[in-house]
Amino acid sequence: MVRQLEAVIFDLDGVITDSAHFHYLAWKQLAADIDIEIDEAFNETLKGISRMDSLDLILAKGGREKDFTLEQKEELAAKKNAHYVELLKDLSPADILPGIKPLLDAIRAANLKIALASVSKNAPMVLAALDLTDSFDYLADAAKITHSKPDPEIFLVAAAGLGVESANAVGIEDAQAGVEAIKSAGMKAIGVGAGLIGTDELVSDTSKLTLAMIQKVFQI
Ligand code: BG6
Ligand code: MG
Repeated sequence: MVRQLEAVIFDLDGVITDSAHFHYLAWKQLAADIDIEIDEAFNETLKGISRMDSLDLILAKGGREKDFTLEQKEELAAKKNAHYVELLKDLSPADILPGIKPLLDAIRAANLKIALASVSKNAPMVLAALDLTDSFDYLADAAKITHSKPDPEIFLVAAAGLGVESANAVGIEDAQAGVEAIKSAGMKAIGVGAGLIGTDELVSDTSKLTLAMIQKVFQI
């Protein structure tokens, strides 16, 4: 079978907009409420991880994994989400990361498909606030995903939703777990940011992403 680039699949938080930082601030506040301190280095391990799995990692870090019932953990996760949604209240198209809108437009103009593979249940709301919903052909539904990144599930769901073979897609991610998810899904991976391992191409920030680069990475 001849491979042919058919689709580009994007992560959201930290790739389309800087909401990854708001997730960090919201978790830091929630963790402080239960006497656990987290820093940016620890936060790297939370990127791409679902809300409940992130809470479990934070509780384990503080040695408090046995201190809360499931119901209490659900309350903590809801509290974190309330902090997060509050931080997002002024989100607007001005918060789209550099180069992303022209890139989405160029991908569409080249007749390639575009999907979102975010495990965030807030993803549809974030895309709407950025006025980017119409730029995507398919949004993988985080509510139906059973395994967080680094499991490939969400990237496989995104490719299937577009009706393309995963080998014919390129994924773009800012998290180590996300890069591993893309590679496990059998796609080429472009990383954004420093220190990511196992990418097919790594750029320092989103302004460096171009359609020509995506096409080149696909050919590797
Ligand atoms: C991912 C983020 O995109 O979504 C994680 O990288 C976050 O940090 C996860 O925990 C789940 O997001 P939400 O909005 O459903 O809590
Ligand atoms: Mg991300």
